[in-house]
Amino acid sequence: MRQNFIALILAAGKGTRFKSEKIKVLHPLLGKSMLRFVVDCIFRLNPANIYVVVGYQKEEVKKETFSKKVEFVVQKERLGTAHAVLAAREILQKQQEKDVLVMNGDLVLLRAEMLMPMLKLHQKEDNSLTFLSAELENPRSFGRIIRGESNLIKIVEEKDATPSQRCIKESNVGVYLFKIKDLLEALPKISNKNKKGEYYLTDIIEIMSREKKKIGTYKTPESSEVIGINDRNELARAIEILRRRKIKSLAESGVTIYDPASTWIDLDVKIGRDTTIYPSVIVEGKSVIGKQCKIYPFSHVVDSKIGDRVNILTSTMIEKSIIKDDSRVGPFTHLRSKSVLMRGTKVGNFVEMKNTVFGRNSKAGHFSYLGDSEIEEDVNIGAGTITCNYDGQKKNKTVIEAGAFIGSGTELVAPVKVGREAYIGAGSTITKDVSREALAVARSKQVERPGWARRKRKKTD
Ligand code: UD1
Ligand code: CA
Repeated sequence: MRQNFIALILAAGKGTRFKSEKIKVLHPLLGKSMLRFVVDCIFRLNPANIYVVVGYQKEEVKKETFSKKVEFVVQKERLGTAHAVLAAREILQKQQEKDVLVMNGDLVLLRAEMLMPMLKLHQKEDNSLTFLSAELENPRSFGRIIRGESNLIKIVEEKDATPSQRCIKESNVGVYLFKIKDLLEALPKISNKNKKGEYYLTDIIEIMSREKKKIGTYKTPESSEVIGINDRNELARAIEILRRRKIKSLAESGVTIYDPASTWIDLDVKIGRDTTIYPSVIVEGKSVIGKQCKIYPFSHVVDSKIGDRVNILTSTMIEKSIIKDDSRVGPFTHLRSKSVLMRGTKVGNFVEMKNTVFGRNSKAGHFSYLGDSEIEEDVNIGAGTITCNYDGQKKNKTVIEAGAFIGSGTELVAPVKVGREAYIGAGSTITKDVSREALAVARSKQVERPGWARRKRKKTD
């Protein structure tokens, strides 16, 4: 591909139809913002530079971590797509011998492969302008392409279209490749005399056409990918397409997904071969799941790394945590951030963990809270054990060394350490360190008064 083109992404508009506090292009689809889709697509075309026109919430948009290759141009007021291009006038003036690819920031489903033939056509025909069109069954908010006599061509926006123009299916996708010189010449001729009172970039087509500039269109055969996300219904439609696409590609790579309809897997998620995903599972963010795992229903995994042959049982929530190979977690377990389960661990019903390393082959089967702890290998945590990690001011650490046995219903008042292979008697409140191989019992002695209940009954009779 010829290297002498730059790219300009229009992303300054608020997205009024979204009815959101947040700028439209930062709304995510399966964990990835709209704008990132567009930037990624453009990247693959390898332009010399990428500029993003920002305006509304520009600081937030700039914070999206793009590569250094992306630069920003500010459109101070939002007066339409032509006005957005004008915001980059200085940049364009400096590179007049090049072409510029202008793309709307909400064309999430377009892929680089769909744009390449348009770029080729532009070069081959040496056009002043080539733009992407599509034959849409239901063009909704898309501008219609009107072809007149003697090659006259123009775009009419839905709002400004006559009923018969609205019946036209050939639509303007919102991607244009201009010779910069011709673009700069025609831009100032655009007026804002239309229903919206905006400067429409699309008007440039009629202007250039009347001036007999060479204009080409490339009609994409993949019209189902042409969705401009203008409102939340279109967002949902695009998400559904991407969601199905992700599930399909995972299935093709050897993952069993029992019920695609109820499964949500973010785009960046990786899953290994022979892993089975049961219905109603959600896996988000940058999660990685290994091979031969089973993820049972209603489990929710966020930004976590799960090894091989791990079983995540029903209704388990895992956030920003790591689970190593051959472990079993759930049902109803909650791993909060920074929990690390080493190999072969078993963590079960109603166990909550946070910022805890749980050693190899250790077990916590039932009703526990383990926070800010370092638990070594082969430790048994009895039912109902909790770490009292917070003293009202700061979080304190609990250390349990290898092979220790924590009896049921134990409270470990941190900071505290239980030595290697020590035993804690059930129901203890441990406030002092326990030496290795010791037995610690910290509960009041049981007393018994024989016949007490009988005597009580007699008194009240
Ligand atoms: C635009 C086209 C329409 C095309 C459709 C498909 C115009 C006038 N119409 O309509 O023909 O079929 O896209 O994609 O161009 N923006 C700015 N600054 C502004 C206004 C908009 O940067 O002042 C940005 C928006 O953030 C958005 C893009 O330009 O990313 C397109 O704006 P949008 O309002 O979505 O245009 P459409 O009405 O969809
Ligand atoms: Ca749009």
